[in-house]
Amino acid sequence: MFAALIIFLTAFANGALCARSPQLRNIVQRAEDLQADYDFIVVGGGASGLTVADRLTENPNASVLVLEYGSFDSHEDAVLVPGLLNLTSTPYWFNLTSTPQLHLQNRSFQVTIAAAVGGGTCINGMLFHRGARADYDAWEELGAKGWNWDSLLPYFYKSENFTPTSSQFADEWEIKFDKDVHGSQGPIQASYPPYQFPVVKNFFHAFHGLGIPTPRDPNDGSAQGVFWAPSTLDPETKTRSYARVAHYDRAVQQRSNYHVLPMAAVTKIMLDDHKRATGVEYLARNTGKTHTICAKKEVILAAGAVHTPQILMLSGIGDPKDLASLDINIVSELPAVGHNFQDHPTMFFINQFQNDLTPNADDLVRNKTFRDEQLALYRNQRQGAFTIVANGGNTVAFVPLPNITASAASIITSAAAENLTQLYPDAPPSVFQGYRAQRSSLLQNARESRIAIQETAFNGGFMPLTLLHPLSRGRISINTTTHLAPPLVDYRTLSSPTDLAIFREILRFNRKLLLQVPLAPLQPIELVPGSNVTSETDMDNVLPGIVGPTFQHPCCTCPMVARENGGVVNPETLEVYGVYGLSIVDASLWPLIPGAHLMGSVYAVAERAADLIKERWNM
Ligand SMILES: Cc1cc2nc3c(=O)[nH]c(=O)nc-3n(C[C@H](O)[C@H](O)[C@H](O)COP(=O)(O)OP(=O)(O)OC[C@H]3O[C@@H](n4cnc5c(N)ncnc54)[C@H](O)[C@@H]3O)c2cc1C
Ligand SMILES: *[C@@H]1O[C@H](CO)[C@@H](O)[C@H](O)[C@H]1NC(C)=O
Ligand SMILES: *[C@@H]1O[C@H](CO)[C@@H](O)[C@H](O)[C@H]1NC(C)=O
Ligand SMILES: *[C@@H]1O[C@H](CO)[C@@H](O)[C@H](O)[C@H]1NC(C)=O
Ligand SMILES: *[C@@H]1O[C@H](CO)[C@@H](O)[C@H](O)[C@H]1NC(C)=O
Ligand SMILES: *[C@@H]1O[C@H](CO)[C@@H](O)[C@H](O)[C@H]1NC(C)=O
Ligand SMILES: *[C@@H]1O[C@H](CO)[C@@H](O)[C@H](O)[C@H]1NC(C)=O
Ligand SMILES: *[C@@H]1O[C@H](CO)[C@@H](O)[C@H](O)[C@H]1NC(C)=O
Ligand SMILES: *[C@@H]1O[C@H](CO)[C@@H](O)[C@H](O)[C@H]1NC(C)=O
Ligand SMILES: *[C@@H]1O[C@H](CO)[C@@H](O)[C@H](O)[C@H]1NC(C)=O
Repeated sequence: MFAALIIFLTAFANGALCARSPQLRNIVQRAEDLQADYDFIVVGGGASGLTVADRLTENPNASVLVLEYGSFDSHEDAVLVPGLLNLTSTPYWFNLTSTPQLHLQNRSFQVTIAAAVGGGTCINGMLFHRGARADYDAWEELGAKGWNWDSLLPYFYKSENFTPTSSQFADEWEIKFDKDVHGSQGPIQASYPPYQFPVVKNFFHAFHGLGIPTPRDPNDGSAQGVFWAPSTLDPETKTRSYARVAHYDRAVQQRSNYHVLPMAAVTKIMLDDHKRATGVEYLARNTGKTHTICAKKEVILAAGAVHTPQILMLSGIGDPKDLASLDINIVSELPAVGHNFQDHPTMFFINQFQNDLTPNADDLVRNKTFRDEQLALYRNQRQGAFTIVANGGNTVAFVPLPNITASAASIITSAAAENLTQLYPDAPPSVFQGYRAQRSSLLQNARESRIAIQETAFNGGFMPLTLLHPLSRGRISINTTTHLAPPLVDYRTLSSPTDLAIFREILRFNRKLLLQVPLAPLQPIELVPGSNVTSETDMDNVLPGIVGPTFQHPCCTCPMVARENGGVVNPETLEVYGVYGLSIVDASLWPLIPGAHLMGSVYAVAERAADLIKERWNM
């Protein structure tokens, strides 16, 4: 049933999209085709890596090589067509499992990160927004000098090209935006799909009934309320706008100074006797051979929050105790590497609407007539349900703690009294310092409603409920130096009892939502966790079985704060402490996870990082 679509899309990709066809001059597929050295070597060709490589190669004098673990996609439907994304069968997952999670009934979880040129942006949910002003201002308060909402705003603009939707469509669906808080010249396309399921209106009305308003633009630093966020969607072709297309295909055509080698797993950074990064060692995954390549100016780490700390540790940058036990030669004693691991834990709240509105998201799976009709609409007119990511609502509610529970004050009081040494016995003293500072910043912002505490994503009965500012902290570590062996990924979700207490309130609040007049007539039946799970004890027993550790948002494992507060990177230069010529530009840098899906912030931070790097090399 998809044959016609596939043929059409192939034609489409070679015709209207020929400027983006994968047949690009400068794709380097083999190690033998590389230059002997480059000015900059970027490790990891994901969202941040390609952004920085694009900006550096704007200067024709600077040569840049990106080494990427995964492959190029082939601009296939499952990448380009939002509604055909299938995370069950995508070839772009890392095959990586977490350690058993002590506070999640010892379950292990897939670590949901991508390996591909474009990284997470090849397969992500395309929801494109920013956190609250206070989220970024907290970075600076914690020691990330120069990193705050005001300093990032120009880079949010620089990263995007926002296309509004018609006022008629916007009014109908309560889409609100303010063009003044968006960029219009950037590489990443931001727009609104031209379709929505009718039940979304009922959700908007139900949130409004609970006193949750729709902001004038969720991207203006408010990041609160119930809203339809922009998608990384090309407004003309209604295809995914992602790092590979926006920061590589677009740029590479004219630039012979920009090389990307796919299927190249960096195994180690080479450091000389003066602790200067001189290049990297990598394994070509299609030949199994190990190579080295030199960097004349800098090695830039952009392997994502899970692998960047792993590569540092394998190169002798980390906790001397752990590295010595693996016979790794210590280059910089930085015990904080890999600590402070954060993500957005998510609970699956599943209801069946007995009296559902039609059409709905489930109809796309079970009603072949509807599915075929919508596919044809997409094919012929770039309209319909396939302009939206499958199962991924772009309509969400971000709500502060005091708006979801009357117990906010007492939750904050007991959170402040948690004994961190007891919770994280393996954390070094500098990391504790950092955790303490983060906690007081977070609790103050939560108390004063400057940040949202929970997200509800909705477009049907399946409603992921996400904790946006967890207190729990995980850790990335290594137990081997064997090439291609994965790092140990320990989320430690719910290690803070406060996080569990907040999940109880999140569940109660969303149950209340479904009782509101606009939703109650749909007759929801709660399947997960089940309407009999009501007492505090029952919730505490059941929630650890239905909370997952990730919303695909790993970050914060190499924060840019002072060394004595658990910092790994100098915030003013993005260079790793104790070594030279080695910087980090990905989501590992952040001290605290913002209350937002991460991609928008990843692009903006990488844009600013590129400017800092260019500045120091007088580019
Ligand atoms: C399924 C999914 C859905 C998501 N949905 C959304 C969403 O809707 N909205 C949103 O804002 N965010 C979303 N995200 C998150 C967003 O995509 C990520 O936060 C973002 O891609 C992170 O950027 P990064 O540069 O830090 O890392 P990545 O984009 O993950 O890039 C890191 C790259 O480094 C490579 N790499 C790793 N190790 C090595 C090595 N040793 N050698 C060479 N290369 C290496 C990896 O293969 C990868 O390509 C989603 C993510 C996923 C996976
Ligand atoms: C490139 O290098 C040349 C020679 O050193 C110099 O004249 C030129 O200004 C440089 N261009 C840029 C964009 O930096
Ligand atoms: C996704 O892929 C899996 C495995 O190939 C398949 O079983 C499933 O039906 C696909 N889902 C959709 C929505 O196409
Ligand atoms: C993970 O395994 C799948 C299935 O074998 C494969 O398609 C994919 O490329 C693997 N991912 C990586 C990063 O090797
Ligand atoms: C989880 O594992 C730990 C350590 O192995 C054990 O002490 C604990 O009882 C287990 N918990 C559950 C719920 O099985
Ligand atoms: C939270 O509650 C306050 C006080 O009732 C209200 O003014 C505000 O709009 C609410 N905010 C959100 C995002 O719900
Ligand atoms: C299936 O979809 C078609 C086309 O939209 C619609 O006419 C029909 O009523 C749907 N069937 C069911 C059982 O919902
Ligand atoms: C916190 O726990 C540690 C380790 O169990 C203990 O030594 C310390 O006294 C506790 N601190 C407080 C303030 O209770
Ligand atoms: C490292 O840890 C993983 C996961 O616990 C385990 O499977 C593996 O055997 C360990 N490797 C070594 C060398 O200890
Ligand atoms: C709720 O009901 C289900 C199904 O009958 C049952 O399996 C479960 O144990 C009950 N849970 C509680 C907390 O009563």
